[in-house]
Parts: sequence; C-alpha cells; structure tokens
Amino acid sequence: MKKTIVLLPGDGIGPEVTRAAALVLRECAHEFGHEFDLHDFPIGGAAIDVAGTPLPNETLDACRKADAIFLGAVGGAKWDALPVGQRPESGLLALRKGLGLYVNLRPVKLLDPLRGISPLRPERLGNVDMEIVRELMGGMYFGERGIKTENGVERAWDTESYSTPEIERIATFAYARAENRSRRVCSVDKANVLASSQLWRRTVSALGSVYPEVKLEHMYVDNAAMQLTLRPTQFDIMLTSNMFGDILSDAAAALVGSIGLIPSASFGSQAPLFEPIHGSAPSLVGTDAANPIGSILSTAMMLRDGFGLSLEADWVEQSLQRVLLQGFRTPDIAEPGRKTVAGSLFVETLREEMQRTLEHAERYGWGV
Ligand code: NAD
Ligand code: IPM
Ligand code: MN
Repeated sequence: MKKTIVLLPGDGIGPEVTRAAALVLRECAHEFGHEFDLHDFPIGGAAIDVAGTPLPNETLDACRKADAIFLGAVGGAKWDALPVGQRPESGLLALRKGLGLYVNLRPVKLLDPLRGISPLRPERLGNVDMEIVRELMGGMYFGERGIKTENGVERAWDTESYSTPEIERIATFAYARAENRSRRVCSVDKANVLASSQLWRRTVSALGSVYPEVKLEHMYVDNAAMQLTLRPTQFDIMLTSNMFGDILSDAAAALVGSIGLIPSASFGSQAPLFEPIHGSAPSLVGTDAANPIGSILSTAMMLRDGFGLSLEADWVEQSLQRVLLQGFRTPDIAEPGRKTVAGSLFVETLREEMQRTLEHAERYGWGV
C-alpha cells in the first residue's frame, strides 16, 4: 500500500512523540511491504517562529493532499501572550476546520498491565473500554467571540451554538460506531440550562429512530463527570459537544492512568488526522520523560481506521503490550518494582518487540 503521510511535530514534547509515531510507521512499511512517504511541516508555535502564522498555507495544502496526518502537540509559554486567534492552538483549530474534521474519536481503554496505576479501586475500575465521540468543528470553539470595553469595564464573550445538521452528523457517527460495539450511546449535554443543549438533546433523540438497536441515554455534563469517576464501566459510546468532550476526555484519561496514554482520530470530509490527546507538556521538555503511548496508539488508529490495515495495527498494539508486560514504564505511569525508563528507551524497546512479535506470529500466529 502506498500512502503519503504528513507529520506535524509542533511544540514542546510534540517533536519527540512524533518521532515515536514516525518510527512505528517506518517499521510497519518495512516489515509489511508498504510505501509510506513521510513529510514534516510546521504548525503551532514552531510555525509562528518560521512563518509568522500558526498554520502556514503550505502546511494546510500538504495536509489536503495527504492520505493521513499525524500531529504531536502545539502550544507553549513563549506564545502565551498572543491573543486568541494568533496562538499556536488556533493553528490546530484552523487545521481541523480547514480539513472539515467534525468527528473526534477518543478511545479510553484500560491497558491491562497498567491496571495498578489507576486512581480507582479495581472493583470500580472494572474493564474500562469506552469511546468519546467529540464534535470537533462547532460549539464555543468556533462561535462568535469578542472583547470590548464599555464605560471603562471590559467584557469578553464566546458563544456556544449548534445547528441541527451539525448535531445530526456527529450523532450519526456515534450511533453507527455504537452499532459495532455494545450498542449504547450516552449523549452528554446541559439541556437544563442551555438552549444549544436542548436542540442537541432533541436532535440526538429524533435520530434514534434510525438506529432502533442502539440504546440511547441522555446525561447532564455535571452528572457525566461524576459518573465517569464513580462507575466508568457504564459507558460505551459517550457523545459530546466540542467543549464537553475536551474536558471529559482528560478526566477519562486519568482513570486509566495518564493523559499520555490516549490516542485520537479525527474524520470528516478530507484526510483524517491522528493525534494523542495530550498537549505540549512544557515541563517535560528536555527530560526525555514524555510518554509516547498516546502517539503510538494514534499511529495504530491511523493504520486500522485510516488505512484499513488491521493486522498491522494489531501488531503495533501487541508489541506495545509486550513492552508493558516486561515492566517498562515512563515516569507518568511509574509503579513500584517496574523499570522507569526514558521515552526514547521505551520506543527503542518497542522497536525490538515489534521484531519479536513478528517472529512469534510466524511461528505461532498472532497473540501476545
Ligand atoms: P498538557 O497535556 O500539555 O499537560 C498536562 C499534564 O499532563 C502535565 O502535567 C504534563 O506534564 C502531563 N503530560 C502531558 N502529556 C504527557 C505525556 N505524553 N507523558 C507524560 N506526561 C504528560 O496540558 P496543559 O499543561 O494544560 O497545556 C500545555 C500546553 O499544551 C498549552 O499550551 C496548551 O494549550 C497545549 N495543549 C495542546 C494540545 C494539543 O496540541 N493537542 C492539547 C492540550 C493542550
Ligand atoms: C485537545 C486540545 C485542543 C482542544 C486545544 C489545544 C486547541 O486541548 O486536542 O484536546 O481544546 O481541542
Ligand atoms: Mn484537550
């Protein structure tokens, strides 16, 4: 299979987790006879520094022509004083919008070897395996905003707004996804307060008649945050607006051990985008301590959900499982009695394990 992949390393730990993704993709191409052309382009603060804008036209054009895109992370103190709209983060938002990516899928799945690091007791933790389906092109992120001074008083506003078609298309994705899982959708809103949430709830309910096999539940976002912490196993597909999904996915990540573990995939009208859900983690820069797992699993999503290469994705995930079973841990997922290693050593160990997984599969078939 021949694919063109754009890599957007970005800022902070973005470049190091992108190196991990690139290594996995190169190994995959080599072992399975694919041709993956990888091309780096600037985004975020790095792009502001070289081109004066967080999303240069050249970067967006390359993404439009690509088969898939991988992004590390954007943002950092150096650019924090810039106004909204000129910051590194607005480059990522412009990319999502520019590519028509309205679906953001964030799987939160407990990795069995990491069961012990969850802040939840085992009986509460169960076997967390849920997917957050987050709307990615609307809501407060893209609503009308402004700031003004009136009679010497400053006022700023951001508006949450959703149209019926915007809600229908993300809900359709969530329902279809649920049909291939345990057929449960929990739609999160604040319909007891917000007009946009009332339309959200009504629209998601109405669409339910198209998916009679899927059981729909509505939950207010404050309760959802609480239920997620109390009994996360009740959730299968959680459908959210842009803002609620951003917040709830970080909370869900903590339940399975670290924000460094969670991958994501964004889909829409053009090339899909794959990115770990964490940010640029400024305090980890230069320490080689960043957890590359969210990035590695985002690469597995690119292979499976982007290119239909399930065997290759299984290979990456099984090899990762082997590295964890051997006790390798980055500092964020450290456990007593396990080897705390640098991110780069973790990735090097993964590379070796990818070889072993192949040798094992040749002899005994797939499976750890
Ligand atoms: P963050 O995700 O960067 O960090 C939150 C916490 O998690 C920190 O303690 C950090 O050290 C830790 N962490 C994050 N990724 C990790 C990893 N891979 N391994 C181990 N630990 C990890 O979020 P923040 O501190 O709120 O934001 C920092 C910067 O990142 C800001 O500029 C923010 O706007 C940006 N940001 C970017 C993205 C993105 O590019 N997708 C996402 C979130 C935040
Ligand atoms: C994420 C990030 C982004 C978001 C920021 C950096 C724009 O927090 O991907 O979760 O809020 O979507
Ligand atoms: Mn976020």
